Amino acid sequence: MSLTRLEEVRRAFLADLDAAGPDAAAIEEVRVRYAGRRSGVLQELTAVLRTLPNEEKREYGRALNELKKLVESKLRAAKERASSSGRAASRPVIDVTLPGHVPPRGAEHPVHLVRRRIESIFLRMGYSVEDGPEIEDDWHNFEALNLPPDHPARDDQDTFYLPGSSLLRTHTSPVQARVMEKHAPPIRIVVPGRVYRRDSDLRHSPMFHQLEGLVVDEGITFGHLKATLEAFLKELFHGVEVRFRPSYFPFTEPSAEVDITCIFCGGKGCGVCSRSGWIEILGSGMVDPRVFEKIGIDADRYTGFAFGLGLDRVAMLLYGIPDLRLMFSGDQRVTRQFA
Ligand code: FA5
Ligand code: MG
Repeated sequence: MSLTRLEEVRRAFLADLDAAGPDAAAIEEVRVRYAGRRSGVLQELTAVLRTLPNEEKREYGRALNELKKLVESKLRAAKERASSSGRAASRPVIDVTLPGHVPPRGAEHPVHLVRRRIESIFLRMGYSVEDGPEIEDDWHNFEALNLPPDHPARDDQDTFYLPGSSLLRTHTSPVQARVMEKHAPPIRIVVPGRVYRRDSDLRHSPMFHQLEGLVVDEGITFGHLKATLEAFLKELFHGVEVRFRPSYFPFTEPSAEVDITCIFCGGKGCGVCSRSGWIEILGSGMVDPRVFEKIGIDADRYTGFAFGLGLDRVAMLLYGIPDLRLMFSGDQRVTRQFA
């Protein structure tokens, strides 16, 4: 297979380079053999790429790039060693006038940028920012949110269980329960954080980020929910239309999912929005009185609303990032674009 060939070349290259030792001419020979522009081995391997069936191209291309990077950096290091061992004989060892190494500069991650933008909108509306543990117990992640052990909605959130009775939280909603256990209303919070589900494709990652919102007070109505989310979404995505669709969550009643007009086509319909003109952006609803009862808040006196949105999805939309997994590649060529 073509991947085996890459591995063979990698071994051969390392062996040849090793044999060349600190001899600059021998290193140059190795360079020409592998990285030479006309007929180097890497050149040959690159030509193979075009002949591969599509489903193999991606993996092969990635492995080939890695090999190229390895060859390049090993050659560079070998040359440096050769020239410094040559110099050592004739010149002083340390030249203090040489410029120092400039370390590569990082940049804020797009998810972090989005998180701060959203936090700042809600801070201006009088909310505070809370957080909670990523390792959760069944009570906070499910039970307190009206999801008893046999509830079918548990299947939507394929859970990573840890040894013992703990689990990786599948959403930021458990922090609702934690905050309500500790603080009496009025409550006005947003909660950004990492969450985990057994899920992986273009739009799903096993680790992703959500931001939860919770408001509890006397006299909170669905009107407050609607106005708040509309104001928030219009500020975040300038000039979009917002629509509310009936939905279901065990911990809210009634529940609504919220869509915005597709920011790629302006609502006309395109590939990103599956020709519908709309993109789902968050889940929301009025806190179910059952949740208040479980936690010990007087459900006759208080009402509230809650919402949860995917920060990674928002970042993809705002910055036009086509594949969710790019954001967790740790590749600085991605993050540097947002500096
Ligand atoms: C929830 O997680 C609810 N806790 C949201 C909620 C909060 C509803 C409060 C009502 C009140 P859902 O499973 O639909 O709902 O996830 C919410 C958002 O997270 C989705 O709209 C989506 O943007 C994002 N999301 C879900 N799964 C993934 C994933 N695997 N990768 C990236 N984003 C995801
Ligand atoms: Mg959903």
